[in-house]
Amino acid sequence: MDSNPTGYLTNVAYTDNYYEQLSPAALNYLAGVNGHAPRSLSDFDYCELGCGSAVSLLVHAATHPGGRFVGIDLNPEHIARGEKLAAAAGIRNLTLVAEPVSDALAASGLPAFDFIVMHGLYAWVHPEVREVVRRFIDARLKPGGLVLVSYNARPGCTAREPLRDIMRRFALPLSQDPLERVQLGLSYLRLMLNAQVPFFRLNPELAKYAESLFERDPHYLAHDIFIDTWNPLGVETVAGEMGDIGLQFAGSLPLWQNHPEADIPDNLAGLFSAQTERVTREVHKDFIYNTVFRTDLYVRPATDSQSLPGRTKALWNMRFSAVVPTDAVQLSMQSGSLSLPLNTRESRMVFGLLQDGARSPAELATHTGLAHMSPDTLVETLCWWVLSGQVRPVTQEGDGGELPSAAGLNRALLAAAFQEPDREKTWLASPRFGCAFPFDKAQALALCALSDSAEQSPSTALHELMQESGLSVEQDGVAMSESELIELAEQLFDELEVAGTLDSARRLGVIE
Ligand SMILES: C[S@@+](CC[C@H](N)C(=O)[O-])C[C@H]1O[C@@H](n2cnc3c(N)ncnc32)[C@H](O)[C@@H]1O
Repeated sequence: MDSNPTGYLTNVAYTDNYYEQLSPAALNYLAGVNGHAPRSLSDFDYCELGCGSAVSLLVHAATHPGGRFVGIDLNPEHIARGEKLAAAAGIRNLTLVAEPVSDALAASGLPAFDFIVMHGLYAWVHPEVREVVRRFIDARLKPGGLVLVSYNARPGCTAREPLRDIMRRFALPLSQDPLERVQLGLSYLRLMLNAQVPFFRLNPELAKYAESLFERDPHYLAHDIFIDTWNPLGVETVAGEMGDIGLQFAGSLPLWQNHPEADIPDNLAGLFSAQTERVTREVHKDFIYNTVFRTDLYVRPATDSQSLPGRTKALWNMRFSAVVPTDAVQLSMQSGSLSLPLNTRESRMVFGLLQDGARSPAELATHTGLAHMSPDTLVETLCWWVLSGQVRPVTQEGDGGELPSAAGLNRALLAAAFQEPDREKTWLASPRFGCAFPFDKAQALALCALSDSAEQSPSTALHELMQESGLSVEQDGVAMSESELIELAEQLFDELEVAGTLDSARRLGVIE
């Protein structure tokens, strides 16, 4: 197997992925909801370790022009792909480094970071590499800086170990090639599933999981099953390791995990009501929910003030906006074990105001209908809306300021998606929310053409985009005429209207 000195697989590229939880705006909200001060979004440094082909970094760099972004990945193919997309999208606030994380890199000319994130790295490498990662963080994280780490977690992921083990035992002696090994491992599983062997009869959840592997991209499976360094971790282990470099546990995803009103089933709440030590609580939650994957936030406490600002203060000036229209709003929703109290007069009023534009709790508090609410209650009301997924934090700080354009990136992501025939979706970046949302490829094509149509006719914009994306602009071997292109453009735009996609794309800020 082709591998580098860290033991990680390098001869098979990983899949392109986007993760909204890595967005600086999302990280700030997660910190704030747990009472930690958010970082400035108008001037900051951000680093992603093991960034793969850097799709998340590209989106975040395009939508946060106040940030300077660095991505590090040991696989030169991943970095080359990210650089190609960055060049096509005209992104200049991103530097990509094709090297393993190392002490030398930590000591090189990199800046000190406000954010360091890693998705799918920490539990995929040897303990010695985890140590290097921690030394890197220790050397390069600012006081008050935030770290997001996501990893395969105990006990849920550990329970899957026998499947991974048997696939490897079967496939490793038969081939050196990682993708061939994936096919061999899957064929073994198919045989066992079809034979309804006792293992699967006695472990129906694992049978479901085994079936789900057939839906996954083989490149993903090569990295998940056929690397030697895979190792699910307990939250207490990761918290202990981060504690060794002075970081404190600061929150977890999904968001409901940060609200004690929601995070433990009602019938067990009494048992844990006195459990205020957060990591211990998380350990019990992982048992209760059989957690498979964790996404945790850590903070390096600022040296000047050890005290937490608290949730209300941390979120007071953060701005939020609604992402669903009033006629589609859901007032009755469950989040974890909590029925969200959305259907009160004040709560509906908060939602109504966030329909009109982005507002912070400080701005909401000046509204006459909300002036009687205490700051804590107002912020809590807003948090329930965020938990419902119907309101989100926005990127822009304060009033005014032009939102950056993500049109170039969206075109580049679209072209890349069309180069992969099996891919149904692409991501479109939203400068308003500082993240990207998935869209069907044909719908995304029409949306990008529409957002380009300020400078040229929609059919010309569509023609150009189709050519950029390598799509045929011929019908029956003959180049499409102007009138045929206009007809195609109108048909695509009509479909957007009918499906409500145009409206939701505008709300999500992916087109203006
Ligand atoms: C499982 S993939 C995850 C990729 C991406 N973060 C994602 O979640 O889609 C792990 C990534 O970490 C990179 N990697 C592994 N060991 C590394 C190291 N020591 N230094 C830098 N990158 C590393 C791999 O090349 C790969 O891109």
